[in-house]
Amino acid sequence: MPTHPPPTSSEPWWKTAVVYQIYPRSFCDTTGNGVGDLEGIRRHLDHLVWLGIDAIWLSPFFTSPMFDYGYDVADYCDVDRLFGDLATFDALVADAHALGIRVIIDWVPNHSSIDHPWFVESRSSRDNPKRDWYVWRDPKPDGSLPNNWVESLTYGPAWTLDQTTGQYYLHNFLPQQPDLNWANPGLKTAMLDTLRFWLDRGVDGFRMDVVHMIGKDPELADEPPEFVGLPHDILNEQPETHVHLRDIRKVLDSYEGDRVAIGEIPLFDLDLMAGHYGDDDELHLVFNFPLIFAQWDASQLRNVLTTTLAALEPRGAWPTWVLSNHDFPRHRTRYGGSEAYARAAAVLLLTLQGTPFMYAGEELGLLDAVIPPDRVRDPAGRDGCRAPLPWTAEPPHGWSTDTEPWLPWPPVPEHSNAEVLRDDPTSILHLYHSILALRRDTPALRLGGIGMLQTPPGVLAFQRGDGPEAVTVVVNFTEGHMPFDVAGVVALSTTRPANDEFDGMLHPDEAVILR
Ligand code: NOJ
Repeated sequence: MPTHPPPTSSEPWWKTAVVYQIYPRSFCDTTGNGVGDLEGIRRHLDHLVWLGIDAIWLSPFFTSPMFDYGYDVADYCDVDRLFGDLATFDALVADAHALGIRVIIDWVPNHSSIDHPWFVESRSSRDNPKRDWYVWRDPKPDGSLPNNWVESLTYGPAWTLDQTTGQYYLHNFLPQQPDLNWANPGLKTAMLDTLRFWLDRGVDGFRMDVVHMIGKDPELADEPPEFVGLPHDILNEQPETHVHLRDIRKVLDSYEGDRVAIGEIPLFDLDLMAGHYGDDDELHLVFNFPLIFAQWDASQLRNVLTTTLAALEPRGAWPTWVLSNHDFPRHRTRYGGSEAYARAAAVLLLTLQGTPFMYAGEELGLLDAVIPPDRVRDPAGRDGCRAPLPWTAEPPHGWSTDTEPWLPWPPVPEHSNAEVLRDDPTSILHLYHSILALRRDTPALRLGGIGMLQTPPGVLAFQRGDGPEAVTVVVNFTEGHMPFDVAGVVALSTTRPANDEFDGMLHPDEAVILR
C-alpha cells in the first residue's frame, strides 16, 4: 500500500512535468565562437519534443562578466551578447511554447556581479543611495574580517576589503559576486521587478539560485565552533527568507498559468529544506540534494528516498529528484562509468513520485570530460560536467565552430551523440524516450502515491498508485541474477523486451517497470 498519499484534485503542470536543464554555453553553438547560444537551443527543440520532456530550465544567459559563468549577473533584464539578445530569447520562448514546452529561467537573487551598475554605485562612496543595497561592514577593531563566514566556491573568506571606502563587502560566493541586501526595501522592489520583467515576456517559472540565502542574520554572527570552515550556504536559515519567499510567491501568483518557483536550497537538514515550501505560500518546489551525494547502492538510495519523502509528507510538499546538474560530476561518472547503472538510474529518476529534473546530455549517457590543466575554466573545478553536447558523429559534432568549443568534448563524442544514438533503438537515448512515453501514458507514474516494498539486499522496489492502475518499479543494484517475487507484465525493462509476464528473476543491473 502506498504510504505517501497521492495529491488530490486538478494539478498544476509542474507536478507532472519532467524538466530538462540546459547549460546554454554547452548546448549548441551557432555563431562559431565555441560557446553555445539561445539560437542553438531553438534549433534543437525537435530533439526535446521527440525525447518527451515537458519543460526546459535555462541556466543563466544574462549579461555577465562570467567569473561564475553567468551566476554573476550584471543586468538581470538583458541577454548576454554571447548567447543572443532579447529577440532571440522571445523567439525561443515562442517556439518552445508552440511545441508544448514550458520555459523556466534561472534567477540569481542572492548576489549580483561586481559589474552590476547597482554595485558600481554602491561601492563608490559610503553615502551613495545604493550603499545599503549590498552588505558592507567595517573591519573588526583589530582590523580583521567582520565575521568568520566561508564562501562556497573556493572556500576563501566571504569578505573582501574595498579600498575606496575602507569597508568589507559580503560575498558568499566569489569576490566578484557581492551579496545583495534584501533587508533594503529599494533593493527588494528592484529584484521583484526583475521577476515581472521575465513573467511579462512569458516565462513559465524560475529556478531560484540559493534563494534560502536572501534572508541574512541581522547580526552577521560568527558560525558556531562546530561549523567553522563550512561554507555558509549550507547553514543559512533565517526567518526573513520566508517573508521574502512569500512576497516572491505573491508576484508569481499574480500572473495566470501556474508560474512555478523552484528553489535551489542546499541545506542538509531535510526539515529545514522542506520549510521553504512554507504553507503552500513560499516555493512550489525545492531541490533536494541527498540523491546527488548517494552512491549507486540500494540501501543508501532507499534511505535517501524514505527520509526525503518523510520530510515532505507532513507538509503535503511535492518532491523533486535530480541526479545530475552543472555543479557536480555527472551521475554516470560518479557511479564509475557503467552504462548499465546509468540506464537503471534513468528508470529510477523518472518513476519516483515527484518532479524529476534531467541534465542535458544524460539522455546521451554522457560522462564528464577530462579537463587538461590548460583548459580549466571554472575556479571551483566543475568543468567536467559542463562539456559541450555532441549532436553528430563527425567533428565539430553539430557545433558551428572552426575553433574548439570552450571546453573539451566528453568521452567518445563519435558514439555518444544525438545522431548516432537516435539510429540505435537499443541506445540509452531510446530508453529515456521510452520511459518518458510510458510516464506520460501512465497516471500512476505521474501522480500516483508511492510506497516502498520489502526487498532482498541489493534490490530497491516501490509501488506507484493503487489498485488495477498500480505500477511496480524494481531496481537490481547487484551484478547477479536476483529472485524477486512479484507478479506483473513487463511494461519496460533496461535489459529485456516489454510485454512478457515477469518471471520472478531480475537480470544483473536491471531496472524494470511492471504493471
Ligand atoms: C548555485 C549554482 O548552481 C552554481 O553554479 C553557482 O556557482 C552558485 N549557486 C552561485 O550562484
